[in-house]
Amino acid sequence: MKRLRVLVLMHPDFMPPESLKGHTEQEINVWKTEYNVVTTLRANGHEVKPLGVQYELKPIRDEIESWKPHAVFNLLEQFHGEPTYDQNVASYLELLRMPYTGCNPRGLMLARGKDLSKQLMSYHRIPVPDFAVFPINRKIKRPARLALPLIVKSVSEDASWGIARASVVDSDEKLAERVTFIHERIGTPAIAEQFIDGREIYVGVMGNDRLRVLPVWELQFGSIPEGAYRIATERLKHNVRYQDKHGVEHGPAKDLSPEVRDRIMNLAKRAYRTLDLSGYARIDFRLAADGTPYCIEANPNPEIAEIEEFAQAAKHDGVSYPDLLNRIVALGISRAKSAGV
Ligand SMILES: Nc1ncnc2c1ncn2[C@@H]1O[C@H](COP(=O)(O)OP(=O)(O)O)[C@@H](O)[C@H]1O
Ligand SMILES: [Mg+2]
Repeated sequence: MKRLRVLVLMHPDFMPPESLKGHTEQEINVWKTEYNVVTTLRANGHEVKPLGVQYELKPIRDEIESWKPHAVFNLLEQFHGEPTYDQNVASYLELLRMPYTGCNPRGLMLARGKDLSKQLMSYHRIPVPDFAVFPINRKIKRPARLALPLIVKSVSEDASWGIARASVVDSDEKLAERVTFIHERIGTPAIAEQFIDGREIYVGVMGNDRLRVLPVWELQFGSIPEGAYRIATERLKHNVRYQDKHGVEHGPAKDLSPEVRDRIMNLAKRAYRTLDLSGYARIDFRLAADGTPYCIEANPNPEIAEIEEFAQAAKHDGVSYPDLLNRIVALGISRAKSAGV
């Protein structure tokens, strides 16, 4: 790949230092993605400029006009602290005719709502859990078709925000309590989904037109007991000490029959196309005991740190981390080209 100027957009709080020296594991955990991307792209020979933005568009425009990057690496997950604005940042880059990595605005929007995305997938016969949405300030009544236990989440937040053991409810009283918790604490409508007891499966997909599906990956819950407690709570996802204590790890999903494996990979690809995703995404499933993979959500622009699921699955498939980042940049550039930029 030729040497490029790459502008890396990120949250100002995650601007990485020049080196890891003198930083604790918990500190590094906060900005490891930004650190990995900046240092690896540099090592790949590119000229790289990290830019922290959150409340002002002008710095983005100024850098694009004065420095003339070939591509933007988009690590922004929110703007004005608002995750749903991620699509607007991608739109802004399109209006500036700027090639950028990851997903397009339409895909970001379709994948965001845990309700709309499931309706679209269900239309395309991708198994999804049954669900109901509870808007703020409306009576909380469980539809008769929806059987307990359920898991209650924010309809639009991610990173497991608001997800704890108490999210899995087995009575109408607990359902109402947890829905109210989401309304009051997270400030969004709540979605209650059929709780799928089973394995936690992640599938990386990358591409624009031709797609590459990465090996089926699994989050292993270690010493955490079976059943409702085996979910990716906020603590389980973000607390390194908790992960170590319980032996929580991720790796290739073992002992899947070839039929189930093929089905999961095929469903991941179909989910990616159904939601109009581009660049790279991670499609998450719960694999029920009867072998049905239920799609839980699609994550466009997933966590891309070297040690996390997507990059590890790519490595397992023979794509090294430096190579992966170059491919992600190349996909952004080729998508812009085919859009006539
Ligand atoms: N319907 C479900 N059945 C079983 N577990 C679920 C279900 N929905 C979510 N979970 C658990 O909660 C975690 C977070 O839910 P998810 O919908 O992925 O939210 P987020 O966008 O915050 O990551 C999942 O990784 C899974 O462990
Ligand atoms: Mg998730």
